[in-house]
Amino acid sequence: MLHQGVIERYRRYLPVTGKTCVITLNEGSTPLVRAYNLSAAIHPRIDVYLKYEGLNPTGSFKDRGMTMAITKAVEDGFKAVICASTGNTSASAAAYAARAKIRCAVLIPEGKIALGKLSQAMIHGARVIQVKGNFDDALNLVRTIAETNPIALVNSVNPFRIEGQKTGAFEIVDDFEGVAPDCHVLPVGNAGNITAYWKGYKEYYSVGKVKNLPRMIGFQAAGAAPIVLGHVVENPQTYATAIRIGNPASWKTAVEARDESGGLIGMVTDHEIGIGYKMLAATEGIFAEPASAATVAGLLKLAENGYFDALEPVAGDKIRIVCILTGHGLKDPDSAIKAAEQPITVEAEEDAVLDAIGIGEPVGV
Ligand code: F0G
Repeated sequence: MLHQGVIERYRRYLPVTGKTCVITLNEGSTPLVRAYNLSAAIHPRIDVYLKYEGLNPTGSFKDRGMTMAITKAVEDGFKAVICASTGNTSASAAAYAARAKIRCAVLIPEGKIALGKLSQAMIHGARVIQVKGNFDDALNLVRTIAETNPIALVNSVNPFRIEGQKTGAFEIVDDFEGVAPDCHVLPVGNAGNITAYWKGYKEYYSVGKVKNLPRMIGFQAAGAAPIVLGHVVENPQTYATAIRIGNPASWKTAVEARDESGGLIGMVTDHEIGIGYKMLAATEGIFAEPASAATVAGLLKLAENGYFDALEPVAGDKIRIVCILTGHGLKDPDSAIKAAEQPITVEAEEDAVLDAIGIGEPVGV
């Protein structure tokens, strides 16, 4: 089947009509990659699948929500959209707004967004405004601006964003032919995505498309973990800039998802995220950005704490886990170059090259 984006694929579950002019870049239908090496490296009882959201058109899961938000903004007659962003939302908003031929303004925290994301917002022609503050400051600003001006807010406080993003849950259940995973693991920043996935699973459950619900397991970066700590973090810090957020807009619904599902929201340090980041790339050949690697870091931590020893799988003999790899690794080349072994420079001679290759040395990572 030719997929024409998440609105066409899941039209009956979304607030669109036959008259709606759909703005799409053929987002969604991302692969669910079975991670044999990673599973074996983490715990003998787990079977991890990676939902590679980095393969969406602008390289992150935001496209699922943005197709809905921009489609509805156009339907409602808006000629301009605005968002605050740690990077990916701005890239996605800029791309979909370009396609819809409407204006787009993005507010980003000065100097704190990854290079790939900044380049996307710029090349798609958004008005890129760097704010001397953090994401939370930028979000407060755009909320106020959108209240009093004819400009649609396309952050995840816009309910259409959540509607679009819930399609990720539908895809997972459809791929598993009517079964939800035992655990659904994802990074948590502004907390829209955990809210959306839980909504998606519950909707599928209520129409009988799935017989079980997953535990929702979120991870925040330790320096930006307001939900874990139970209070706003005034000056959030983490190198995983996508989730550098101290006061998530969807805090309440994230806590509901956690509690209703019997899951948890934990935190991982930047050091732990760095280990997960490299492990994912090295063991599975999948390149995700640091925020996405918080899932792998979190799994390692849960395994260490004995979390998987007591769980009983809903089907089969392994605990089935889906990790959402929210953004492509190429979004943030600086982090990759910092984390990896540096290239070697040699003379243009065979001996020097052979020496550098290290033929005869054991292969491994
Ligand atoms: N992973 C990535 C790669 C993200 O870009 C984000 C959020 C998250 C995880 C967290 O998702 O906010 O729904 O809990 N990025 C937003 C942005 C804030 O502006 O691009 P969340």
